[in-house]
Amino acid sequence: MPMGKLFDNLALVLIVGVALAALIILFPESGYAPNPTGSLETGLLQWLHVFFGITWIGLLYYFNFVQTPTMPKVPAELKPGVSKYIAPSALFYFRWGAAFTVLTGLMLAWSYGELVEALTLRPPARLIGIGMWLALIMAFNVWVIIWPAQQKVLGLVPADDAAKAAAAKRGLVASRTNVLLSIPMLLAMTNAH
Ligand code: HEM
Repeated sequence: MPMGKLFDNLALVLIVGVALAALIILFPESGYAPNPTGSLETGLLQWLHVFFGITWIGLLYYFNFVQTPTMPKVPAELKPGVSKYIAPSALFYFRWGAAFTVLTGLMLAWSYGELVEALTLRPPARLIGIGMWLALIMAFNVWVIIWPAQQKVLGLVPADDAAKAAAAKRGLVASRTNVLLSIPMLLAMTNAH
């Protein structure tokens, strides 16, 4: 198949990426040895967790670094391109990225045998516990504040102008809170082990 055809198909590109990852796991010469427990299950969960985490936080940064600051400069007749097409699609990957990050993160803590210790902030698991609580607050913000607010702002659910303006404000505060919390959250996540 010509290369151009492969890169036209996103699902196929992702499958080839997974196949390359599988090759790394299957060939001992690659040095593959999941840390810190050595179990394949933990290794796969770490990998999936970071994949979903990047998808979520990458889109959070896209909204805050790119879309929101640029919208005021977009001419009125072009704004629907963002609000009707780009934003709904970005929000889809954003909120499901958040859900699967939480799911794989909790499973990861479970696979280390430290889920309860982490959530109760016991000393040996306190750092990852702090990261998990920060990320849980962030996921709550996504599903309970940002997504319902954006549905009104984007006209996906009916709302009058005053309700839209209030929702936009609420959504922005929650989204900026998540940018703020993401900084210490990433410190805790990456430094825990
Ligand atoms: C509620 C949500 C989350 C939970 C419950 C959670 C849980 C965990 C756990 C238990 C670990 C393993 C700690 C360790 O290896 O020492 C971990 C690692 C990690 N998490 Fe999260 N996490 C969450 C959200 C996030 C988010 C949003 C990101 C953003 C990218 C993220 C990125 C990472 C990274 C990079 C690691 C290190 C991977 C490793 O070295 O194994 N996590 N997380």
